[in-house]
Amino acid sequence: MKHIKIALIPGDGIGPEVVAEGVNVLKAIEQLDSDISFTFTEFPWGCEYYLEHGNMMDDDGIDRLREFDAIYLGAVGYPGVPDHISLWDLLLRIRKAFDQYVNLRPVSLLDPSLTPLKSKSEKNIDMLVIRENSEGEYAGAGDWLFKGKPEEVVLQTGVFSRKGTERIIRYAYEEARRSNRTLTSISKGNALNYSMVFWDQVFEEVGKDYPDVTTYSYLVDAASLYFVTHPERFEVVVTSNLFGDIMTDLGAGITGGLGLATGANINPEKTYPSMFEPVHGSAPDIAGKGVANPIAAIWSVSQMLDFFGEEKWGKAVLDTIKSMIGETANLTPDLGGKASTSEVGNRFVEKLTEKDKN
Ligand code: NAD
Ligand code: IPM
Ligand code: MN
Repeated sequence: MKHIKIALIPGDGIGPEVVAEGVNVLKAIEQLDSDISFTFTEFPWGCEYYLEHGNMMDDDGIDRLREFDAIYLGAVGYPGVPDHISLWDLLLRIRKAFDQYVNLRPVSLLDPSLTPLKSKSEKNIDMLVIRENSEGEYAGAGDWLFKGKPEEVVLQTGVFSRKGTERIIRYAYEEARRSNRTLTSISKGNALNYSMVFWDQVFEEVGKDYPDVTTYSYLVDAASLYFVTHPERFEVVVTSNLFGDIMTDLGAGITGGLGLATGANINPEKTYPSMFEPVHGSAPDIAGKGVANPIAAIWSVSQMLDFFGEEKWGKAVLDTIKSMIGETANLTPDLGGKASTSEVGNRFVEKLTEKDKN
């Protein structure tokens, strides 16, 4: 019997709406498979909590989360609390505290009807973006000098350590080798004359251990163009924290939008819990209306199941997502449907259950 202890952080805006549906999927799997069980412990942390208590999470929050196998998070950030406070005190704090240095973000087209790109099919858009998730442009290092004075200067420093750069690049080479795919590095050594020159050098050095892996290296500006014009060039992609953030929203754009984009924040050594979440944020423009697409959050459940060695269920969840895409009427408005968040969730559970019985 496998037991997985999950900490839930539904967070802000549409976060709680979509997490509820992901939890229902896990509960359904528990019903269908007597060898798996989950416990859920919910934490009320987020912007409302901040407005009441003056912090985004309890002081001992990180210690309490340490006890769990996984964290399942909705979204963080909402008008009323400055984003740099809410995100640094909760989401980014967890990623760093638990050294979740690998961010796995599939950019994978589930159905040709979902892409705005002409004549691209599932075969043309099927990549795994591996984003560095612990340092780089998100080191949080900087200074604000002469605030409010004419000579005001603001510094934001990227930090690219040998250890941090090597481990993410090595992880990506391993993944490319394991899955027999090409590996593309996205960087910007022509302008970022320290950090990205170093990145490119490490990419080459580590590559010596993987002569069997075919590699490409693109500048991030050109890569943005090719994501749109030639997405088939990319299979496994490795890139820095900020570039990975931006490229995966672009990736969402070519595969059906943020309602379908997932990301796993992984601590590969399993020293600490890993965290599973949709790529999207709290979507204040649609929050509270019951129309948020829960599929990205459900896809995160698939990534969670894969991570815990339950690939059979991970695949069943992904296959069920694919089978839903054809039923436009049963989808949320972002995908042209009329269904509510919970209707999509319920239909999903129904289909997963049917599938399991066949
Ligand atoms: P967003 O991802 O919340 O929304 C961007 C657009 O996508 C909006 O039009 C929104 O309606 C749409 N969208 C997003 N998720 C959707 C879904 N599941 N179904 C249907 N439509 C969806 O980005 P934003 O508006 O730039 O940011 C809002 C807040 O969320 C900010 O505070 C931001 O800092 C935060 N944020 C948090 C995370 C996170 O917690 N991981 C990620 C991104 C942004
Ligand atoms: C994401 C988000 C976060 C990031 C923000 C909210 C700090 O955009 O998970 O993609 O930049 O990593
Ligand atoms: Mn983002």
